[in-house]
Amino acid sequence: MNTKIIGTGSYVPERVVTNDDLADMVDTSDEWIRTRTGIRKRHVSEGEGTAAMAAEAARRAMENGGVGPEDIDLILVGTTTADDCFPSAACEVQKAIGAVGAVGFDISAACSGFIFALNTAEALLKSYGYRTGLVIGADNLSKIVDWSDRSTCVLFGDGAGAAVVRVLEEEEDRDGGGILAADMGSDGRKAEVLRCQSRTMGNFLTGTKPEPGYITMEGQEVFKFAVKKVPECIQRVLEKGGLDAGDIKYFVLHQANYRICESIAKRLKVSMDKIPMNIEHYGNTSGATIPILLDELNREGKLEPGDKIILAGFGAGLTWGAVLLQW
Ligand code: ACO
Repeated sequence: MNTKIIGTGSYVPERVVTNDDLADMVDTSDEWIRTRTGIRKRHVSEGEGTAAMAAEAARRAMENGGVGPEDIDLILVGTTTADDCFPSAACEVQKAIGAVGAVGFDISAACSGFIFALNTAEALLKSYGYRTGLVIGADNLSKIVDWSDRSTCVLFGDGAGAAVVRVLEEEEDRDGGGILAADMGSDGRKAEVLRCQSRTMGNFLTGTKPEPGYITMEGQEVFKFAVKKVPECIQRVLEKGGLDAGDIKYFVLHQANYRICESIAKRLKVSMDKIPMNIEHYGNTSGATIPILLDELNREGKLEPGDKIILAGFGAGLTWGAVLLQW
C-alpha cells in the first residue's frame, strides 16, 4: 500500500500589503525587509477566517485530485489560528465542504503544522483503514500580530494550502512511492523563543482580565534553531529512505526567511535551484507555506511521477519535521 498525495490546492486572501505599506505604519523600509527576509509583499485577510481560507484550499485540492466530499474520511488542519477555541477549524471545513462522513480535528504545531498533520494523517489512514484524507495547513497570523511591532509584523501573511492524501493498493498504482519516510521533533524547553500568549486567560476569581496575546519572538534564536534542526531532520529522512540529497528534486521548505533557506541549502550542499521559494509574494503564512508552495509546483507541472521531494518545516514549540515522498 502506498500513501500518496493525489491533489493539491491553495488560497490566499485578495488584499495585498506591500513593504512600503508597512513602512507607512512602523519604522521600517522595503530595503530592510527585502534584504533581511526576502519578503516583498504578503496577503492579509480583511475578515475572512482561517476555516474559510482552508475550505477554499480544500475545494481546489479535491478538484485537482478528482475526489468529492463524499470520498473524504479524515480532515486534519495544521493551524494555530482557528477562528474559535472550538469547534476546530477541521470541523468548520467539514461543514463548508460537506464531507459529512469524515472525522476532523486540528493539529497545533505552528509553522510545522502541515508536516505534523501529514504524518498524522498517514498513520491514521493506515491504522484505521481510512482511504482518503484531506490535510490542510491554514493560518491567519494577521489577527495575532502586533501591528506596531516592526520586529514581527513585517514577517507574516495569511493563507491556506491543502493536499488530498489517498491510500492506494498496489494494483491501483504500480509506480509505488508515496510517503517514504518521516521525522518529527519538538523541544518545549525553547517555548519562550516564539510564543503567542492565549487570549482567554481572564478569571474573575483571581481578578485577572483577558488580555489579547500577540506573537513575540527572539528572531536570532529562531534563525539558529532552524538552520541546525531542519538539515538534521532532512538527513534523518534521507537515511530512513536510503537516499542522499543528490537524489532529491526539490526541498520544499517552510518559507520563513530566504536566508534561512539559503543556509539550509549550504548545509545540505545543494544549490538553490533545488529550493523553490515564494516567500517574496506571501511572507510567512505559518502552517500554510509548505502546502501553498507544493501546490504551485504541482500546478506549474514541475512534479513528475517518480520525482523524490522532501517537505520540511519548523516553528513554535519549538517543533520541526520532514517528509520524504515520491510523487
Ligand atoms: N525594520 C527595520 N529595522 C528592524 C526591523 C524592521 N522591520 N526589525 C528589527 N529591526 C532592527 C532591530 O531593532 C535591530 O536594531 P538595533 O541593531 O538598533 O538594535 C536591527 O534591526 C537588527 O535586528 P536583528 O533582530 O538582529 O535582525 P536580524 O538580522 O536577526 O533579522 C529577522 C531579524 C529577520 C527576524 C531574523 O532574525 C529572522 O528571520 N529570524 C527567524 C524568524 C523566523 O523564522 N520566525 C519564524 C516564526 S514562524 C512560526 O513558527 C510562527
